[in-house]
Amino acid sequence: MSGVSARTISQLETGKRGAPRVASVRMLAQALSLDAEERATLLNVTAGHTEDGDAGDPSPKPMTTARPQRKKCFLPRGVPDFVGRKAELDRLLGPAAAMRTESMAVTVVDGTAGVGKTAFAVHAAHLLAERYPDGQFFCDLHGFTPNRGPLDMMAALRALLRMADVPAERIPASLDERSAFWRAALAGRQVLVVLDNVGEPGCVHPLLPGTAGSHVMVTSRRRATTVDGSTSISLDVLRPDEAIALFVETAGRDRTCDELDAVAEIVRLCGFLPLGIRIAASRLRSRPSWTVSRLAERLRARAYRLSELDADGEHGVAAALMSSYRVLNADQQKLFTQLGHHPAVHFDAHSVAVFAGMPLRQVERLLDELVDHHVLMEPVAGRYTFHELLRDHAKALAISAGPPDDRADPIDRLLAHQM
Ligand SMILES: Nc1ncnc2c1ncn2[C@@H]1O[C@H](COP(=O)(O)OP(=O)(O)OP(=O)(O)O)[C@@H](O)[C@H]1O
Ligand SMILES: [Mg+2]
Repeated sequence: MSGVSARTISQLETGKRGAPRVASVRMLAQALSLDAEERATLLNVTAGHTEDGDAGDPSPKPMTTARPQRKKCFLPRGVPDFVGRKAELDRLLGPAAAMRTESMAVTVVDGTAGVGKTAFAVHAAHLLAERYPDGQFFCDLHGFTPNRGPLDMMAALRALLRMADVPAERIPASLDERSAFWRAALAGRQVLVVLDNVGEPGCVHPLLPGTAGSHVMVTSRRRATTVDGSTSISLDVLRPDEAIALFVETAGRDRTCDELDAVAEIVRLCGFLPLGIRIAASRLRSRPSWTVSRLAERLRARAYRLSELDADGEHGVAAALMSSYRVLNADQQKLFTQLGHHPAVHFDAHSVAVFAGMPLRQVERLLDELVDHHVLMEPVAGRYTFHELLRDHAKALAISAGPPDDRADPIDRLLAHQM
């Protein structure tokens, strides 16, 4: 029994009533035991063909305007002085990528804090936009924003559905239904969806369209291992010439043209990290009395480097690195901090196990996880090192954690191991 009255059915059959009420569609969906996906599809199919006779029905209404009706672009402004990333852009925009139309494309852009994932994704999205004529959506999930929590999937879906013109009162209450609604809205559409600053890329499944023709770009500080069929683009720091170009464009050519050696030193001291370079160059620009050499001198002092690269407490390098540290679990945080005391620039799991006094297997696993979180690098298999600024950060954490009671022990153990 659907619960739809015989009179209603008769009116529909005889054409006295042109369309079913929303409540009738709902009852029918329930009687047919449709799952969330089928229910959303039915509601969407009847959307725009239902009589508006569901006043007083507090449950979610069908998406009468869910399908983007006009060209929609929610992308933020791209970085005007964007530099480099040619190989990565080619992977996204080149002929091979253009031919992949038979499935829904997912690209995960990962890399360490401040390496330029958002800048890259937004820049690429503007270049890709015309391939996705039904709209370009953008949602910041705030996975690592200092002083605020991440957006969960429910909130992200709400934001996306609102962009797709779904009235707030019609957005379903459960995650499954919300996700099915979103997929139904995008079915057969060619849209580009940028999911920026995602804490855990493996969690974005509810936000993915279900049919071919669309492209989802995810940015995250975590390497993605669990998004099926995704393409991964891991961003490294900038090349020295690109880093210099970024500094010069930000600080101004007039301020830098006579001191290019000092500029080269500054970008090296920033570990070629775009965020650090931007902040350093902005500081120079805002202090007309400083020379580039003076800024280089200030950055040379390792103990003060991170505080020199502080924007306003919230947007500086230290805050960005701290938000990467906060999402680590307790064991990962402990090892990361211990590594701040490690005397070598490059180390392997054996030496870390001895240094940290931990079983080798556990250390191997933790080192792997730190690499996945992009707080440690593994340039050669089994050999680990820090990015320059992350080493400073780990050292600062190690110092503020205070010396372990047996401070001499780790170094002694390490020396004994190496003899
Ligand atoms: N290729 C680039 N060209 C010019 N500027 C860049 C480039 N990459 C990054 N930047 C600049 O560096 C800064 C940090 O970039 P962005 O916010 O994209 O990093 P992110 O990797 O997304 O950081 P987070 O991990 O905090 O999300 C920004 O000011 C950005 O404009
Ligand atoms: Mg970002």
